[in-house]
Amino acid sequence: MAGFVGPPFPAVTTPFFDAVVIGAGAAGLFCAAQAGQRGLRVLLIDHATRVAEKIRISGGGRCNFTNQELDATAPQRHFVGANPQFARSALSRYTPQDFIALLRRHAIPFHEKHKGQLFCDRSAEDLIAMLLAECAAGSVQRWQPCAVKNVAFSAASPDGTSAGSYHIDTDRGPVTARSLVIATGGLSIPKIGATDFGYRLAQQFGLPLVERRPGLVPLTFDGTAWAPYAQLSGLALPVAISTGLGKKGRSTFHEDLLFTHRGLSGPAVLQISSYWQPGTPIAIDLAPGTDLQDALRQGKARQSRRLLANELAQWLPARLADAWCAQDTQWQRPLAEAADRALSRLGEQLAHWQVTPTGTEGYRKAEVTLGGVDTRALSQHTLECKAQPGLYFIGEVVDVTGWLGGYNFQWAWASAHACAQAL
Ligand code: FDA
Repeated sequence: MAGFVGPPFPAVTTPFFDAVVIGAGAAGLFCAAQAGQRGLRVLLIDHATRVAEKIRISGGGRCNFTNQELDATAPQRHFVGANPQFARSALSRYTPQDFIALLRRHAIPFHEKHKGQLFCDRSAEDLIAMLLAECAAGSVQRWQPCAVKNVAFSAASPDGTSAGSYHIDTDRGPVTARSLVIATGGLSIPKIGATDFGYRLAQQFGLPLVERRPGLVPLTFDGTAWAPYAQLSGLALPVAISTGLGKKGRSTFHEDLLFTHRGLSGPAVLQISSYWQPGTPIAIDLAPGTDLQDALRQGKARQSRRLLANELAQWLPARLADAWCAQDTQWQRPLAEAADRALSRLGEQLAHWQVTPTGTEGYRKAEVTLGGVDTRALSQHTLECKAQPGLYFIGEVVDVTGWLGGYNFQWAWASAHACAQAL
């Protein structure tokens, strides 16, 4: 992309739109549809052959499109970023109930699965068809596949209705617009079209960025340190997981944990990954709700002759209990013969398993990108850049990241709606 100030005023034959939206994913499709239905001339551009690939693959093909437990008055409960409060205005003006009402108007069946998470009954294709129908209802033009080669701002406006205009050079030719909406999403899953376009464009216009890193991502561990657990690959169990040194703070999740060949995954780990800082440990309670130290002490008082691993299998998967007890000879005895200190240590370690991940599976496996366009540069009401009239950033490209469970799509709908009302 070239510099901030673009070529001279475009030729009269250049097509003119009220708004050009770049990125036909969740946020871009929804924004284009809403703006079109307000009577604006809208062009939607995407470099991929198919629209909304992330909607298509999300939620195991059924798209977890929103979450009924979202509390717009307290976005910090379900959103991560330098300033989660930024999301409050948009989230409170377009709620999960609003999106549910839209699905009902399109007669799309859905169901709640877990903790307020709503999924399509049939397929995510229902949702994509709905968004395309909404775009058609707004007479949105779509150029796809279409690469954007250059974007430039001119202080002159062809129709005199705005502070300036955007000249967008594409491989289908140039186009001019009063407003430009960037909805190109984050960096996860590059093989289905993710790029850093939005971040580069933000930099071109002088906007600050918050450092990006993969979120909602499996965590990996060093080969030797992980050796005792590698055999547990495929094992899942409910846990309580938190960041930090065992103190259960705000970011504690009660979800399922999954052992993998290279580390840990499952909803519990995906959630905590968005709070995890490289170099710090995570703490896992492998038997939440059970006081294992007390339970083992009681077993010993009953003179239980069962091996410790077998005793533990009442509360933990047997494979995990075996692997755990194999790490210490003092844990390979009948409960009645185990030393009190060994039992305390065992109970304590299972309740506060502290492990320091060496990394993550990266953008190849991450569901989202943490960080992005710094919210301090944007209006929380319209998503417009404060210092660059007519330029908007919506969806995942902004430094607002939701929890697992439909929160990221709800941010896409809500930020798109807020922007579309302001275009
Ligand atoms: P999104 O990524 O949807 O769209 C960006 C668009 O921009 C794409 O169409 C892309 O092709 C286009 N683009 C990129 N670069 C471009 C360029 N240079 N030029 C032109 N176009 C360009 N969330 C949730 O709430 N519930 C869920 O169930 C899931 N599940 C899930 C599963 C998996 C595997 C992933 C990877 C992610 C999820 N998510 C999710 C997250 C969710 O998919 C994500 O937050 C939203 O799709 C973000 O919407 P956006 O519109 O911002 O970006």
